[in-house]
Amino acid sequence: MKAIVCTKYGPPDVLKMVDIETPVPDDNQVLIKVFFTTVTVADCRVRGFNVPPSFWLPAKLALGWSKPRQPVLGTELSGVVEKAGKNVRKFKAGDAVFAYPGHLCGGYAAYICLNENACIALKPKVLGFEQAAALSLGGITAWFFLEKGKVTKGEKLLIYGASGSNGTAAVQIAKYLGAEVTAVCSTGNLEMVKNLGADKVIDYTTTDFTGLGEQFDAVFDTVGKTDIAKTIRAIQPDGRYLHSVTTPMTELKIRLNLLGTDVKLVGGTYSGSIEQIEFIKKLAEEGVFKPVIDRQYSFDEMVAAHEYVDKGHKKGNVTIKVAAGPAL
Ligand SMILES: NC(=O)c1ccc[n+]([C@@H]2O[C@H](COP(=O)([O-])OP(=O)(O)OC[C@H]3O[C@@H](n4cnc5c(N)ncnc54)[C@H](OP(=O)(O)O)[C@@H]3O)[C@@H](O)[C@H]2O)c1
Repeated sequence: MKAIVCTKYGPPDVLKMVDIETPVPDDNQVLIKVFFTTVTVADCRVRGFNVPPSFWLPAKLALGWSKPRQPVLGTELSGVVEKAGKNVRKFKAGDAVFAYPGHLCGGYAAYICLNENACIALKPKVLGFEQAAALSLGGITAWFFLEKGKVTKGEKLLIYGASGSNGTAAVQIAKYLGAEVTAVCSTGNLEMVKNLGADKVIDYTTTDFTGLGEQFDAVFDTVGKTDIAKTIRAIQPDGRYLHSVTTPMTELKIRLNLLGTDVKLVGGTYSGSIEQIEFIKKLAEEGVFKPVIDRQYSFDEMVAAHEYVDKGHKKGNVTIKVAAGPAL
């Protein structure tokens, strides 16, 4: 089968299309024919070994010394179950699914084998395969932080980086939770973010939200670019600072700045659970959450897709069409 492998850590052109053995599902696995995958910040970070200095050694040990131990990247995908192992009960051949293999990766290939209890769900009927492939990373991240941060109806929430994969999902899910959402993004994305449901938008290229004298119950920094000290001053005394990019150094900085306040840091990472992917599926089926697609690339344009995502300014998600599938 065709797959894109990461031959060594480096710029996008380390990614090469090769022929590898099609995997064979074991008794507890499903073999999925992949229609769409995505290019995420996580894929680019692994490919380029772009990690904070404090993570250098643990990341080399975890990911692989000179190249990723799992050479086929791709953290999310959609497709159809081609074959189910004899013990598989939840899925059968022909099921349309979407999945979040997460750190196990493997989406940049014509086929992938996943355990039936991995982060897989039936594709929402209301979405096509392209949108379904882009549901899980942004959707689950946004839900993980908003739920952990106990964002509730009527609260004033500021979402910083509202135009990315996490941000576009966070705006939609926060509105579903009933929050009053102020979204921060750059000029060209203001309209899109407003259309996603944001009550107010702020252009970070012209306005520093921390200088407006407003106080928020919670601030969700989805891209790790807020000024920590100024942001904490814009949060209610007993509010929450949700932060999806807490490296050990960032976390230390935030905790030092929080000393003497009752503001709580909500950080951490998720690995993706069946409950989370099922919840995101439900939100998609109810029309609450629809992933924003910025660009679609073909499978053999993977290098160009990585070059684009490396720039750090995608709007929502970038998808890769691995194979042609049905429209819905
Ligand atoms: N903790 C976790 O479990 C978890 C899970 C997933 C992702 N993450 C992390 O979350 C971060 C964001 O992920 P993502 O997938 O949402 O990224 P993304 O989609 O690549 O984010 C791109 C967006 O960031 C915006 N942006 C760039 N610089 C900005 C700035 N200075 N101020 C405001 N917005 C800015 C861009 O908007 P403009 O073009 O308008 O600048 C663009 O729309 C990544 O670092 C990722 O590793 C963490």
